[in-house]
Amino acid sequence: MKHEITLVVNGVRRTVPVESQETLVDVLHDRLGMPDVRYGCGEGVCGTCTVLLDGSPVSACLMLGVQADGRDIITAAGLCREGDALHPLQESFLRHGASQCGFCTPGMLLTAYDLVERRSLPSRDEIRYTLVGNICRCTGYTKILDAIEDYAAMRRAEKEE
Ligand code: FES
Ligand code: FES
Repeated sequence: MKHEITLVVNGVRRTVPVESQETLVDVLHDRLGMPDVRYGCGEGVCGTCTVLLDGSPVSACLMLGVQADGRDIITAAGLCREGDALHPLQESFLRHGASQCGFCTPGMLLTAYDLVERRSLPSRDEIRYTLVGNICRCTGYTKILDAIEDYAAMRRAEKEE
C-alpha cells in the first residue's frame, strides 16, 4: 500500500510516495537519491545507514519510512556548511586520513557529531565506546579516533573563547 510522507531532509522539505514496508534507508537512498545514506547489513549491526532523526542518531534500516513522516533528518551531506564547505568534523577526517574506502564514513561522522554535541570533550575510550555500533570494514579505527578527538578538542576550544 502506498503512502505519501513528508520529511525535512537537510533543511529541505520533501514529499515522497512510499510503500508500507519500505525502510527509511530505502526511502532516503533509493527514492530521494541520497548516496551518502548507505545500506550495509540491513539488520542494525553495521551503522553505515546512520542518520540524525530529530537530532539523534538512528539506524535508518531499522525504521520504516512511514515512521519518519513529519520528522527532521540530517544526513552526512547535511553537515556541510554554506556553499558546500565541509564541516570541521569532515575536515578533521580528511586531515587524519580517516576515510579509507569511505563506506562507513557518513555513519561515523553522524555518530561522532552527536557525541561531541552531547559531551564536549569525550575521552578516547568514550569515543571508542560510542562507535561500537559503527563498523569500519577497512578497520582503520586509529585514524577515525584521532580525527574525532582532534575535532572535539577544537570544538571545546571554540566554546571557551
Ligand atoms: S545498514 Fe543499517 S545498521 Fe547496517
Ligand atoms: S573506511 Fe572503509 S569501511 Fe570504513
